[in-house]
Amino acid sequence: MLIAQISDFHISASGVAYGQADTNAALKRAVAHLNALVPAPDAVIITGDVADAGNPDAYAMAARILSDLDAPFWMVPGNHDQRDNLREAFPDHDYLSGQCAEARACFVEDRFPLRLLGLDTLLPGAHSGGVDKRTLVWLESALSDGKPTVVFMHHPPFPVGIGNMDAEPFRLADELEGVIRRFPNVLRVCCGHMHRPVLRGFGGTLACIAPSVSMQLVLDLTQQAPSQFVMEPGGLALHLYEPLGGRPPELVTHFGLIPGGGHEFAGPYPFKDVVSPV
Ligand SMILES: [Fe+2]
Repeated sequence: MLIAQISDFHISASGVAYGQADTNAALKRAVAHLNALVPAPDAVIITGDVADAGNPDAYAMAARILSDLDAPFWMVPGNHDQRDNLREAFPDHDYLSGQCAEARACFVEDRFPLRLLGLDTLLPGAHSGGVDKRTLVWLESALSDGKPTVVFMHHPPFPVGIGNMDAEPFRLADELEGVIRRFPNVLRVCCGHMHRPVLRGFGGTLACIAPSVSMQLVLDLTQQAPSQFVMEPGGLALHLYEPLGGRPPELVTHFGLIPGGGHEFAGPYPFKDVVSPV
């Protein structure tokens, strides 16, 4: 199966975020890109920051654009989202009404060979994220049958070496890592929030962060790194769960860029006349 992960749309009714980023156009490009993928994704997971300011107009716009998406999709909220307005804009997404703890919009989707699990890390009024003890109990219960699972969440529960993001601790990060460590059936922890592709270890598994479909965080690996974005191309993560090379199914993650918005990529060109020098 193929899971596409897209993140951090920051949709506004006006279509422009921070005076620079045409986020509505970026999401439309992402939807067109996903619809053209071969093979087509079996599921699309949105890892938060659907809207920039959590207002109903923005969610109405996002719902309109996402209605063109061919694949079924699920989402978790980010710190720019407002749960009640998100629920109202996506009434078909029952799980947004809260599964894991009061008000938290978590989900478990079991229709595929790989379980998709969404963890709501939104702390209203805060830029940082976290979980609570009831959510951890729910997570343990959801993982206890051993089925291979990917956990999707907005906030990465770990530092990444970019100062302005690392300054915000994730609530109950150590406790969450302890739960993940106890369940080797968690094949990946997939986050957003960082607006950059990132990989690292977490709780004995591999964690990844998908880029934004619109603007990216400046790649500044200093503790003084300010919060700034650049209009690098939008991107996505593709998580492939297939038996490859005669081996049992393994989860392989690819990162891709979304063309358009001033970013056009020349090619493809064939590799030819390639030899192995002796
Ligand atoms: Fe974001």
